[in-house]
Amino acid sequence: MLGRPEKPIGVFDSGLGGLAVTSEIAQKMPDEDILYFADFANLPFGPKQREQVEGFVSRIVDFLTSREVKTIVIACNTATVAGLDKAKEIAGEIPVVGMINPAVNTVLNRGCYSRVGVIGTAGTINSSSYEETFVKNNWKKTVHGHACPNLLRLAEKGEIDDKERINRLARECVNPLLEKGIDALILGCTDFSCVKDTLKEVVPSRVDIIDPAREVARTVNEKLKSRDWMGKEGDESQLFFYHTNGLPGETREFAKKAFNLTIDAIVPTDI
Ligand code: DGL
Repeated sequence: MLGRPEKPIGVFDSGLGGLAVTSEIAQKMPDEDILYFADFANLPFGPKQREQVEGFVSRIVDFLTSREVKTIVIACNTATVAGLDKAKEIAGEIPVVGMINPAVNTVLNRGCYSRVGVIGTAGTINSSSYEETFVKNNWKKTVHGHACPNLLRLAEKGEIDDKERINRLARECVNPLLEKGIDALILGCTDFSCVKDTLKEVVPSRVDIIDPAREVARTVNEKLKSRDWMGKEGDESQLFFYHTNGLPGETREFAKKAFNLTIDAIVPTDI
């Protein structure tokens, strides 16, 4: 049996957006194997009931722990909101990292904002999890959330080539928040990382775009280091892509084009 350092890092999302987080992890920790899980059969998580999404999270975490991953990254804001506590309960001694705390920490560490906007799925925005996490951290400024289902529908399946359409949907998505005078915009859905360049074009330069993916990778690195569970330097790392029914045909190409990730194996699975 392999020792803990040789095990893979488990990362999951409903679809392809979590590859943005995977890419940051791969850059920060190039010696680690990654087991990515995409639950296409249940996508989208965003409009579903919290209890239902928590059920998806439980099954995925059961699966990942059965593959003996050494940490679990919930690379999906909606799944973090609905299932982080449950995931921690199931994972036991395996650390679980979600999206909300790293995003909030990024804002707090910069310390210079007074009005923050968050874009995400209906599940994430309606939960008010971002507002609550800011309040827990004694941040007394304003947080405005806005759900953008149309923009993320395109991004979640990797359909990012229709620039004109993406540009229009990106404007529709951010304009209500710009009208509220935000000075930072949190990408509160991992799918938005795929369209970050367009979002940068439609948001004025006085508004900082906060993509929590890098802070998530930093948190994972810290958790592994503190346990002495890091992979060995120079180990050849691999990316395994597990998925339930519904894999988009051009997943490998999308991973390469959008995130410079090479998928070593695609494994259909039924959990
Ligand atoms: N990637 C997910 C997130 O970060 C949402 C996509 C979905 O609706 O399934 O919230």
